[in-house]
Amino acid sequence: MSSVKVECVVKVSALIGEGPVWEESEQSLLFVDISGQKIHRWSPSTNQIQSLETGQPIRNVQRHSENMTLSHTSRLFSGETVGFVVPRRSGGYVAGVGRSIVAVDWSTQMMTSLLEVDEDKKNNRLNDGKVDPIGRLLAGTMGKEERPAEVQRQQGSLFSVNSDLGVTKHLSQVDISNGLDWSLDQKTFFYIDSLSLTVDAFDYDSHSGHIGNRRVVYRMEAGEGLPDGMTCDADGRLWVACYNGGRVIHIDPATGVRLQTVSLPVMKTTSCCFGGPDYSDLYVTSASLGLDQSGRRQQPLAGGTFRVTGLGVKGRPSNSFSG
Ligand code: BGC
Ligand code: CA
Repeated sequence: MSSVKVECVVKVSALIGEGPVWEESEQSLLFVDISGQKIHRWSPSTNQIQSLETGQPIRNVQRHSENMTLSHTSRLFSGETVGFVVPRRSGGYVAGVGRSIVAVDWSTQMMTSLLEVDEDKKNNRLNDGKVDPIGRLLAGTMGKEERPAEVQRQQGSLFSVNSDLGVTKHLSQVDISNGLDWSLDQKTFFYIDSLSLTVDAFDYDSHSGHIGNRRVVYRMEAGEGLPDGMTCDADGRLWVACYNGGRVIHIDPATGVRLQTVSLPVMKTTSCCFGGPDYSDLYVTSASLGLDQSGRRQQPLAGGTFRVTGLGVKGRPSNSFSG
């Protein structure tokens, strides 16, 4: 029996640490602080953290017609949250900032807006996003949240963005669009709308991107909190971070059985991914937003990022956006 160990590896306290992604080429963990408006990149070997603020100016993408540049305005994005960040095949990253999908050049710290979603819902913001095995980005939105998990309901949507930046809306009336990942054979898309308190599956056509035949694969039990971010391991099983549950649960989507529970010393566990040299470390992000003084005293590591070792399973490399 391997023995499971949980350690806090990034002690910088995020307001809402989220969206961890292992970047193999950098041997680093990328993650965001949604309300803290930052993208972080942490290297386990040097323990250095580099950060980019997302509340800075974003350039609009320049569109060239035959002989003139149609748009080269820059806008000041003040107070823009960042819901996710993923690597991009052509270099740099793509992030969900406010309602914009932006290209991020890490070396110059420049962000360029590629497109906007939910233009009819100005209060919405992008939340979790992930790239499918062929390079398509899926990302969801949610309505305004006065307090954590007290959200204007049914305002969110789920979108996909393909390599030529074409956008398809797959779902509307989503409460809090959250964790997502794909089965090993790419034929199933796993998805969490947190307030439904379920982990769902759809049939997935990776060629067209079409999703259908929604069903529940796991229903949260009392004390498990809200399902938030998740990752699918190399055995095809899911690891789901439980917001307000202080744990990550390991579930078999084929049977609906919970196989294991990993407890963490913070209640607002938000998301997880596998990483490390051989993908055997589970990284888990957490939030501190909304904790009162006594909550912070009881959970001094709230907002930190954790590494879980000794699980005896491995994850899969992350996919890069093709657009
Ligand atoms: C969202 C938070 C929300 C939480 C609860 C997170 O992904 O970003 O705003 O409160 O999920 O499910
Ligand atoms: Ca989330």
